[in-house]
Amino acid sequence: MPPLVANYYLTYRCNARCHFCDIWALEPKQEASFETIQHNLRDLRRLGVRYVDFTGGEPLLRSDVDKVFAEAKRQGFLTSMTTNTILYPKRAKEMQGLVDFLNFSLDGGDAETHDQSRGVKIFDTLVESVEIAQSLGEFPVLNHTVTAQNFTRIGEVAELGEKLGARIWLNPAFTAHEHYNNKKNPTPELVKAIESSARQYRNVGYNKAALAFIEAGGNDTQNPRCKAVDAVIAISPNDELLLPCYHFAQAGLAIEGRLYDMYRESEVVESYRQSQGKLSVCEGCTVWCYLIPSFFKGLDKYWFLNQMTYAGEFLARKRFIQRSAKQRQQSAEQPDKQLTPV
Ligand SMILES: C[S@@+](CC[C@H](N)C(=O)[O-])C[C@H]1O[C@@H](n2cnc3c(N)ncnc32)[C@H](O)[C@@H]1O
Ligand code: SF4
Ligand code: SF4
Repeated sequence: MPPLVANYYLTYRCNARCHFCDIWALEPKQEASFETIQHNLRDLRRLGVRYVDFTGGEPLLRSDVDKVFAEAKRQGFLTSMTTNTILYPKRAKEMQGLVDFLNFSLDGGDAETHDQSRGVKIFDTLVESVEIAQSLGEFPVLNHTVTAQNFTRIGEVAELGEKLGARIWLNPAFTAHEHYNNKKNPTPELVKAIESSARQYRNVGYNKAALAFIEAGGNDTQNPRCKAVDAVIAISPNDELLLPCYHFAQAGLAIEGRLYDMYRESEVVESYRQSQGKLSVCEGCTVWCYLIPSFFKGLDKYWFLNQMTYAGEFLARKRFIQRSAKQRQQSAEQPDKQLTPV
């Protein structure tokens, strides 16, 4: 079975300072040229990958990000991008129609909470970005990272989503690097808060497999569920194949135009394939960027819950978009009527 997804880190630069993320503190290296990315995309297609998540750092900081997405679409990929929105108002037009799954990060239901979590004053830009995206026919989902600090306030985030006409995706925080497991993220209380808010608010979704996995204590190195190397190809901004995953990369192999052969034939890749989910750093791991793609491989309860989640979310988003469109049409016909939540 081919790998499911490429996690393509376009840059490690970031213009925010989120308290639960340390990418912004990394030393940025020379970033790959557009031609290098174009070549890697071709190899990813040959390897059978159909879905690329362009991430970072802040992907919109790359000046040719629109060109990269346009190339990925030209080559037939499904694309996704998550952004902190700081640059979205400036770049929205260039990105229009190029991102199949557009996510805006939201950490709190009001300016103070969101800005404090992000370390920069960006709440107003986020709200403006949602409005711009919707006016361009995009349907951004607000990705809410639920942490030990904010899990009691999911309702406020859901209500903001309703006001903005956007769905909320609840993303339980994982901890990484030297903070790994120290902050006890995610906790059982956080799991309960996610489940009950999704019951209460119809614009809120979450991954059922992820919550079941948290309850089971995360990845078990004796019986690993993580298939990071089989399910995901992780590429760094400076053109390295990251093994076994970005968050605990033990190796970065210089790609230099050889991604196709390297992924299929390299002994190093094979040795990480053998040890995926079994390394000491893998104990208790809940890094969703690798675990959720892993759940698509191997038939078990996580596979089943994951499939259920995406089938349900697909229908929920479709209904949500239809309701939002109808409501916008009504308010255009009766401009004096106040916009009410969907
Ligand atoms: C790494 S960021 C990259 C894109 C962009 N800089 C942003 O923040 O939207 C992608 C998503 O991962 C989330 N994230 C960052 N650190 C996380 C963590 N420790 N646990 C769970 N999600 C996290 C962010 O909130 C964001 O929604
Ligand atoms: S904006 Fe994104 S990459 Fe930057 S610090 Fe926050 S989560 Fe990390
Ligand atoms: S379990 Fe976590 S640390 Fe280990 S390979 Fe998978 S994603 Fe990486």
